[in-house]
Order: sequence, then structure tokens, then C-alpha cells
Amino acid sequence: MSEKSPPKHIAIIMDGNGRWAKSKHLPRSSGHQRGVQSVRKIVKHCAKIGVNTLTLFAFSSENMKRSEEEVGLLFKLFLTVLKSETKKLKDNNIKLKIIGDLSVFTPEIQSLAEDAQEQLQNNNGLNLVIAANYGGQWDIAEAAKKIAEKVSVDGLKPQDIDSDLFHNYTALAEYPRVDLLIRTSGEVRISNFLLWDIAYSELYFCDTLWPDFDEEELSLAIDSFHSRDRRFGERNGNT
Ligand code: IPE
Ligand code: IPE
Ligand code: MG
Repeated sequence: MSEKSPPKHIAIIMDGNGRWAKSKHLPRSSGHQRGVQSVRKIVKHCAKIGVNTLTLFAFSSENMKRSEEEVGLLFKLFLTVLKSETKKLKDNNIKLKIIGDLSVFTPEIQSLAEDAQEQLQNNNGLNLVIAANYGGQWDIAEAAKKIAEKVSVDGLKPQDIDSDLFHNYTALAEYPRVDLLIRTSGEVRISNFLLWDIAYSELYFCDTLWPDFDEEELSLAIDSFHSRDRRFGERNGNT
């Protein structure tokens, strides 16, 4: 494992649960359940190696288009995990934020999500961000809506809107910029996950299906991150 300090903010598109289940002749639900085990491992590991923020794509706004059965199952799993993990997160000093349009979730899920975030608000270890019914375009549109409100109600001047101000209205405003974005399962696309936030993130795609993703796989991604020359548009040396 690398001795360098880890990326401050890692974001992961946790993909491949269905294909994992299919390859084992199991129902898709087993893939999602095994996916939760990978989440546990990766959260614990990120806390241990000192990552500041870990943002996980659990459920996209487009995933709502899946069958009623699968959406119901994913909601149920979200509920179960909120119930079973909050205490463990507390003991591990992990702070939680859930981003996305939560209005689609049942009142029970919404109130558990609120309780969990509240219970963990005084923790100061890893910031765990779960994106649920989240879309990158939704996030940008929400920010635009809030800024428009500031213009019409609070007298914000349109000429004062710049990228720093805009950033302050996005869902991840309070966290360091995303350093490393990982997507598992061999798909090479963003699928409407973070858009604003990945302007200068390093991207890492691997074939491993999410239920098989573990600490070692994460270390490979981090090693790859450390091998990158992050120039941010500038020129280094004489090259
Ligand atoms: C990722 O696994 C989990 C969610 C999108 C909720 P998938 O369910 O997309 O699995 P594949 O891509 O079909 O293998
Ligand atoms: C993206 O995966 C969403 C999550 C991992 C939560 P999908 O499986 O939904 O993405 P597509 O359909 O392959 O683009
Ligand atoms: Mg998928």
C-alpha cells in the first residue's frame, strides 16, 4: 500500500451488483445485499487510512425507472442499513450526509435518514456521503434554483455569480473537492453522478464488480491516483 497520504475525497459509482448475482445464478437482490458488505468494508477502510470524505452513489435518479420490485427492494435495503449501521457509524466516529431528492422515499426512510444524520453530527472522523435518488443534473438545477431565489428575494447581483459562489450551493459544498472518482464493473461513464464536482477529479475505472471490490482493490485505485500528474491546466517543469 502507498505511504503517501490518501486522496482527501474519494467518490465511487458502486456498479455491478446485478451482474455479480447473475454470474452466480443468484437473484439480483443477493447482489445488492453483497454490495452492502463491500460498502461496510470500504467505509471502514477509508476511515482507517484517513480519507476525509467518501461519497458513494447508492441509487441514481434514473434507477427509479427500474421495476417496481427492484426499486422496492433497494428502498427496503436502504431502510435496513439505516437501522442497522447508525450505531456502528457512531462508534467509528463517522459523520453522515445523505444527498439527493429524498422526497421519493417513504416517510419512515426519510425520518430514519434525518435521525441518523443528527445522531452522527458531532462525529469528526470520516465524512460519509450517500447519494440516494441523486442526479448530477438535479444537483446543478437545485443550486441554480437557490441562487435564483437569492437574486429575487435577497438582492444578490447576477454579476456576482461566479463558479465559487455557485459551488457553495451544490450538495457537496462543505467537503474538499473530489480527488478521485472510481467506477466499478467495467462501464466507462458517469451515469449522471457528480458532474459539477468532477471538473478536475482523477478518474479510475476497473472491471471488478462492486460486491468483489475490497480494500486491495481500493489500494490499487489509490496507487493509480498517486501515479497521476495533476496539472490543473498548468505546465510543470519544462515539458
Ligand atoms: C449497482 O448495481 C447498484 C445500483 C444501481 C442500485 P446494478 O444493479 O446496476 O448492477 P448491474 O450494473 O446490473 O450489474
Ligand atoms: C449507476 O449505475 C448508479 C449507481 C451505481 C447507483 P447504473 O447501473 O444505474 O448505470 P447505467 O444504467 O449502467 O448507466
Ligand atoms: Mg449497473
